[in-house]
Amino acid sequence: MQLFDIHSHTLPKIDDGSNSWDETMAMVRQAHETGTTDVAITHHMIRRSDYDKENEIIEKFAALKEHLEKNDIPLNLHLGAELYYSPDLELTHKISTYNNNGRYFLVEFPMQGIPRYCDDKFFEFIVDGKNPILAHPERNLGIIRNPMRAYDFVQKGVLLQMNAGSLTGMYGETVRQAALQLLDARLIHFVGSDGHNNTKRPLVIRDAYDIIIQRCGETYATKIFQEFPWNAMSGNEITIDEPMPISMTPEKAQSKSKFLKLLGF
Ligand SMILES: [Fe+2]
Repeated sequence: MQLFDIHSHTLPKIDDGSNSWDETMAMVRQAHETGTTDVAITHHMIRRSDYDKENEIIEKFAALKEHLEKNDIPLNLHLGAELYYSPDLELTHKISTYNNNGRYFLVEFPMQGIPRYCDDKFFEFIVDGKNPILAHPERNLGIIRNPMRAYDFVQKGVLLQMNAGSLTGMYGETVRQAALQLLDARLIHFVGSDGHNNTKRPLVIRDAYDIIIQRCGETYATKIFQEFPWNAMSGNEITIDEPMPISMTPEKAQSKSKFLKLLGF
């Protein structure tokens, strides 16, 4: 089975990710050795001036592909960006959408909350056939405080990407609990390492895969680690399961049905 990591900062000296080619190569080795088959490279695009590095990113991306081949590391690479949300967000650059497919793009909110009117902005994209993938919602304070906002986004056509480290406790217990809550409601559609280096924020999703297989089963794991990302990289349609409202997660739904059985329903 293919294991897709759709969020990473792997190329050297672009943003706060990898610092050198040595570090980049250590990262991709780590990814391959832990079972990842596909990595999407998604450097931060926060200010307009960040796009000045677009050509450098495209060149380094091609160079990394060559390094992988020379070093016999069978890892497929995809190119996109992590777009910082703003009301005038546009998808006019080659790296704006994954593999320049004109459709799926990764977007992040500020950690402190959910920007005003972003629902309207996302709606404009969606009616225009463009699909936002929201990066690490489980780390966003607005969603942690009110997880139903995640459900609302998904209902409106936004897809959600979880960070692997959120499940392993890398960002603390509050984020881990939020991640589990979203996962249990089947509101997560992709997993990314958000890998920045080969030490504290590695290019690894394997631990999250093991947790998700255990907790949610193989069918769902196959969708979010293989089927959905494959379609997102190729620009194909993604059909998700109907999301469950947060209050009706499997454990709660199960205990409710036990309760109804006890009552003789
Ligand atoms: Fe990131």
